[in-house]
Amino acid sequence: MNIEIRKAKLEDCEELSYLKREIWETTYRGIYPDEKFDSYNYVGNAHKFENIILSNDIFLYVASDNGKLVGYVAFGSPLRPFRDYSKEIVLLYIKKEYQGIGIGKKFFNLGYEYIKSLGETKFLISCNKYNLPAQGFYEKMGGKKVYIDDDMDNKSIPQIKYEYIINRH
Ligand SMILES: CC(C)(COP(=O)(O)OP(=O)(O)OC[C@H]1O[C@@H](n2cnc3c(N)ncnc32)[C@H](O)[C@@H]1OP(=O)(O)O)[C@@H](O)C(=O)NCCC(=O)NCCS
Repeated sequence: MNIEIRKAKLEDCEELSYLKREIWETTYRGIYPDEKFDSYNYVGNAHKFENIILSNDIFLYVASDNGKLVGYVAFGSPLRPFRDYSKEIVLLYIKKEYQGIGIGKKFFNLGYEYIKSLGETKFLISCNKYNLPAQGFYEKMGGKKVYIDDDMDNKSIPQIKYEYIINRH
């Protein structure tokens, strides 16, 4: 295994779209309605990654193993603003075979250090309410629950939100 973490490039976006679909399958099958998988739009999702790369206030990073993408993360201004949180870590996804070997923590720390470098004192991470493994990870990283959506029939919608306080020392 030869894991490298680097900033995402526009040429990565098609591969990222396929990777997203693959990780969704192992993360959200049984939570999201099947229709969300069947109607997955590869081109549209590649464009979403492109827009993040082209934006000035959100950064997208990827992890690769011998050049093949195995995970990604974004951080910066919130995609969906909440209360007075001006920064977030978002879109943290690692391919199943590469989970549990420290990549998530490296991604988290990359976002944490970037947000800290801006002089911020706190940030937010939002997670699907029914994605319990990810919540275990976010709590291990020191997150405190500050908001939980009510349950809904469409389980892709309700979120749980974690606050992280930045240690200034
Ligand atoms: C959740 C996720 C990002 C965590 O990343 P990861 O690379 O698997 O986690 P790491 O190997 O970096 O683990 C870091 C630490 O968290 C702990 N941890 C990881 N998953 C955990 C869990 N489910 N519950 C409790 N602790 C957990 C690890 O034991 C490790 O502890 P250590 O620092 O004491 O060794 C990753 O598993 C993933 O991409 N899952 C599927 C997609 C997903 O749900 N993304 C989140 C969307 S909101």
